[in-house]
Amino acid sequence: MTSWLRKYTNFILHRKLLISLLIVFISISQTAADGACASPYVSSCEECLLRGPDCGWCIQEDFLDGAHVSQRCDSTSSLLRKGCREEFIQSPRVKVEVDATLSSTQVAPRKISIQLRPGSQASFVVEVRQLERYPVDLYYLVDVSASMKDNLERLNNVGVALSHQMREHSSDFRVGFGSFVDKPVAPYISVHPSKIINPCREYEVQCRPTHGFIHVLPITENMTEFTRVIQQQRISGNMDTPEGGFDAMLQAAVCQKDIGWRAEAKHLLLMMTDQPSHLALDSKLAGIVVPHDGQCHLEDNTYTETTNMEHPTIGQLADILLQNSIYSIFAVDNVQYKWYEDLLDLLPGAYLGRLFPKATNLKDLVVDAYKKLLSEVEIEVTVDHRHAHRFWVNVTAICPPGSSVTGNNKCSNLKPKQKVFFNITVGMTSCPGEDSEEDNDVGLSVQPVGFNESVTVTMKQACSCQCSQRGGCLDDGVASTCNDISENTEQVSPDVCQPEGSGKICNGRGTCVCGECVCDHSNLGTIYGKFCEMDDFSCPYQEGLLCGGRGQCTLGECVCQAGWTGESCGCPASTETCQSSDGLLCSGRGRCACGRCLCDHPPYSGEFCEKCPTCYTACQPHWLCVACHLTHGLVQGSSEQCNRTCAPVVGYVDDITEMASVLGKHCLYPSTERCHYRFHIGVEPGSPQLQISRQPECLSSQRYFVTFLSVFLLTVVLGLGILAVLRIMLRRKEEAQPDPQNPQFDTNKKDPSYAPTTNEKTVTYRRDHNVEMHVQVPKMPLDDIGWQ
Ligand SMILES: *[C@@H]1O[C@H](CO)[C@@H](O)[C@H](O)[C@H]1NC(C)=O
Ligand SMILES: *[C@@H]1O[C@H](CO)[C@@H](O)[C@H](O)[C@H]1NC(C)=O
Ligand SMILES: *[C@@H]1O[C@H](CO)[C@@H](O)[C@H](O)[C@H]1NC(C)=O
Ligand SMILES: *[C@@H]1O[C@H](CO)[C@@H](O)[C@H](O)[C@H]1NC(C)=O
Ligand SMILES: *[C@@H]1O[C@H](CO)[C@@H](O)[C@H](O)[C@H]1NC(C)=O
Repeated sequence: MTSWLRKYTNFILHRKLLISLLIVFISISQTAADGACASPYVSSCEECLLRGPDCGWCIQEDFLDGAHVSQRCDSTSSLLRKGCREEFIQSPRVKVEVDATLSSTQVAPRKISIQLRPGSQASFVVEVRQLERYPVDLYYLVDVSASMKDNLERLNNVGVALSHQMREHSSDFRVGFGSFVDKPVAPYISVHPSKIINPCREYEVQCRPTHGFIHVLPITENMTEFTRVIQQQRISGNMDTPEGGFDAMLQAAVCQKDIGWRAEAKHLLLMMTDQPSHLALDSKLAGIVVPHDGQCHLEDNTYTETTNMEHPTIGQLADILLQNSIYSIFAVDNVQYKWYEDLLDLLPGAYLGRLFPKATNLKDLVVDAYKKLLSEVEIEVTVDHRHAHRFWVNVTAICPPGSSVTGNNKCSNLKPKQKVFFNITVGMTSCPGEDSEEDNDVGLSVQPVGFNESVTVTMKQACSCQCSQRGGCLDDGVASTCNDISENTEQVSPDVCQPEGSGKICNGRGTCVCGECVCDHSNLGTIYGKFCEMDDFSCPYQEGLLCGGRGQCTLGECVCQAGWTGESCGCPASTETCQSSDGLLCSGRGRCACGRCLCDHPPYSGEFCEKCPTCYTACQPHWLCVACHLTHGLVQGSSEQCNRTCAPVVGYVDDITEMASVLGKHCLYPSTERCHYRFHIGVEPGSPQLQISRQPECLSSQRYFVTFLSVFLLTVVLGLGILAVLRIMLRRKEEAQPDPQNPQFDTNKKDPSYAPTTNEKTVTYRRDHNVEMHVQVPKMPLDDIGWQ
């Protein structure tokens, strides 16, 4: 089995082993953004479901105690986060259940039931395959108007030859025969009495009267009988060019019993004509206005409603051919080929062939058509028309290798027994309207064209909830008994509403009713919680979300979810993000604060305190070595004592300035505050790698004093200068200040030295105490709200 097959046969059921298999597909609908569900106008579970496929309704009694009922509607994840237990969330799941008990040879599965909710969608896969050989029923539907005379005469020879040839392709080949001309009414025929009896009178030919459709020979395997019937056929006639072909096709398709179509056979309806067909509205010309009802109306093998009902529309005919699993083969004259070609796209399972004069190629045409039609698998998906506007369907054909995809719902060039898969996605856009009585299941049919098997899909519409109101499924006992006892509920249990350690009933943000807090309404947001301790507005925000979306706002403080910390839950609790590549926290030079390194040593910076542009890395490492040598008095031999911190070879020089610095680096070692030793790091091989100057360089005390004095004087002078400038500026500003006694202050006078005396600062509102607030928010009229 190829991997391609294996991938999809998962969907096909081992029906022998299982009585019933349940497959639950999770809805593939887009995740609605958080907050799409919550709306102040949602007051019941049903309304909540309409807001989106991810919305759920919490029926838990004590959920967000005291909060407005609309808070019960939210995305499932939000409800869980807010503390609703899973078993209390009403959120019907999108389900696909496959009934595997029905056996089938060509189409699987045969029965599917789907549960959909508004805005959701579900997918399932249907497998279709052609068998190698089928029994075949071929019904000749022949236009017997005068122009078809030659074709009709040939038919008995061709018929027998064809049945011989078809036996190669079919296990059991049978034929039937019917004839048609047109509706026998003016203006399609001449209504002169003599012409009604013999429409061909003026050509001095004996014709039989015009007829809509006559079913002559039910499907039979007796070719002798077939030949006998054909020989008996007489031509007829009418006046206009088009014939009543569609009328006849519809009867031939729908009168299953009379025609004798076998359920297990492939049904071929061979339409032979040399003219186009009348279409639905043409019949108005004859005063016939009743639309075709799509039923069988045969009496004594004659179509009785031909003069009462209109011709079928093409859509109606296509539906009926599909439902009755009929392939139609049009064998038409060259002249009308184009007309029928345009029909092909409209009629599923149709084949068009050019009929040569005297029907010489009829045999090959039928065999070709049969082979072609069997090498294609196409499906048509139809939703119950009363509900079709509320559902959408998307089909994708998954054709086996070697075949070709045509459109989305057809595979061509198939070999017998090859499996074709169709991925069908159905979506429901809305619930049935208020006035509609059909709240039941909606039917959807998946019909492979020309197959005697189909898939019946039942779609349940999850538009209502088991428990609609708040706690609807549970006994609302507490509240009701409480109300019975006393209206003044404060007396019943005042302490119950007082959280431990708080002096206020319901934290001062609600009233105690029946021993439960009913929280105040606030224009700022929702107050909830057992003791009205939580709300959705009084905590710090981060990135536009209360508590950064990672915590609950309890009494003005964010209570962060695990793993988060900080005032607005914006800081990860772990220090993982501060770990530098060497495994140390901030390279060992800082500490981790809110997930970021704060470096302790000023010269160090960077994400992990790893950068230090000012650190002189080449010299500093050698300071220890120089210090060691200095403590040993710079005498030869101290190298050994300093072999821990030094390069092996260290030399001393008297005048280090003479050394070529091209070969290394000159460094300073500050030995005391005023003195430093120079040393040189050499890179030249052979010579000592570290050369230390024997003499320190010191600032002489005189020079030191001079330097100190000049710095002191400079500081004093500069300071005086700055003071003077400041004084001038202040004076000017005072002059510009208005005299408080003088009300005539000229505000137009602009002073460039004027600086603003106040600062603007944005502060986050924090509520630690219950403050009476009078905020007036105009109410939005209900009509203005766009309901979705
Ligand atoms: C076939 O039809 C002929 C008459 O058309 C009849 O004589 C003959 O018995 C039939 N054969 C069978 C096998 O029914
Ligand atoms: C459909 O046709 C197949 C093949 O001929 C046959 O085995 C099966 O029984 C038929 N199914 C029905 C429902 O008639
Ligand atoms: C149907 O499926 C095709 C292919 O997956 C996609 O391009 C198309 O947008 C879908 N149409 C709808 C209505 O979902
Ligand atoms: C069927 O189509 C849906 C929607 O296009 C897609 O999500 C799903 O993966 C498809 N299933 C298979 C088996 O191809
Ligand atoms: C360093 O010098 C000491 C003697 O002062 C000697 O014992 C030791 O082995 C030396 N270490 C190295 C690594 O040369």
